[in-house]
Amino acid sequence: MSTKITVIPGDGIGPDIVDSAIKILTKVGCDFDYEFVDAGLTALEKTGELLPQNTLDAIKRNGITLKGPLTTPVVEGFTSINVSLRKQFGLYANLRPVKSFKGTQARYDNIDIITVRENTEGMYSGLGQKVSEDGSEAEAMSKITRQGAERIVRFAYELAQREGRKKVTAVHKANILKSTSGLFLKVAREIAEEYPDIESAEMIVDAACMRLVMNPEDFDVIVTTNLFGDIVSDLCAGLVGGLGMAPGANIGKDCAIFEAVHGSAPDIAGKNLANPSSVILASVQMLEYLGMSEQADKIVKALADVIESGDRTTRDLGGSHGTTDFTDAVIERL
Ligand code: NAI
Ligand code: MG
Repeated sequence: MSTKITVIPGDGIGPDIVDSAIKILTKVGCDFDYEFVDAGLTALEKTGELLPQNTLDAIKRNGITLKGPLTTPVVEGFTSINVSLRKQFGLYANLRPVKSFKGTQARYDNIDIITVRENTEGMYSGLGQKVSEDGSEAEAMSKITRQGAERIVRFAYELAQREGRKKVTAVHKANILKSTSGLFLKVAREIAEEYPDIESAEMIVDAACMRLVMNPEDFDVIVTTNLFGDIVSDLCAGLVGGLGMAPGANIGKDCAIFEAVHGSAPDIAGKNLANPSSVILASVQMLEYLGMSEQADKIVKALADVIESGDRTTRDLGGSHGTTDFTDAVIERL
């Protein structure tokens, strides 16, 4: 029986770039059974809900989801759909790899970094949000648990081990945020001792940002808390040519959602201008999760080849071609 995968085409450029990824998966011989469901603005227009129950059911039932970007309406009362999904399905690990491809306009060509971001706690736990009645004060609570910290740090080391990576850097701010970041760092040091074959480093987040810009080759796997991970992983995407090249996986105990990290790009939606690499690379992450590394490697190689040759790339990569041309070029290489 073929593996069943939930697909959310999403809003804006979503349907076009998700279509590219599926064509490429088919070309490389992946015989998946796709179940298409809606979320975001597309779902709101059809059903009156941003996250309809049948979408939630499909995500749960199939365990694996490939997702295009979703537009969250900027109106009071709508919480971010992505945050809701992470909470509902316990997707505690956000994995954001960035890799240099020759031929992009990025500053570096030797980058291979994975940020492992804790996805449910810290400043984004949503706890204790308060604004005083006269609007002069606001507060929110950051919460780190030992269990949450252990789980994410161990995840990072296991990933390093599995992928033959050499180093894990814990990024923190324990010198100032003594309780929360302090606990995270303490746990990171404890777990590090269980993995003597992997080099362990720790770095304060601001220093890490500077170092990432100046000497990105010093980093391999980064593990960090929610807010720092959000920021640091976008910085990393900038090192390899921007959001069009950045995929992300949200992983929990028995559910995983693979997506582009960028949004629905309304400014270029429907114009055949989007770079589909982000979702293509998200599908590569999905194949690796499924243990299909042979197919994953083939896709990365074909994509790298198209980008390096530069003859049919999208505008953000310095080319002048559309989403469909770019996709066809990858398919021809396969
Ligand atoms: P955005 O990421 O959609 O766009 C930022 C800039 O990057 C735009 O100039 C866009 O054209 C460009 N861009 C993004 N992806 C690209 C691609 N694949 N190829 C070429 N250029 C690309 O961010 P923005 O405009 O702030 O958000 C638009 C909508 O997306 C909002 O409704 C926001 O809530 C939503 N959003 C959804 C996310 C998700 O579903 N994971 C993540 C971030 C934003
Ligand atoms: Mg972000």
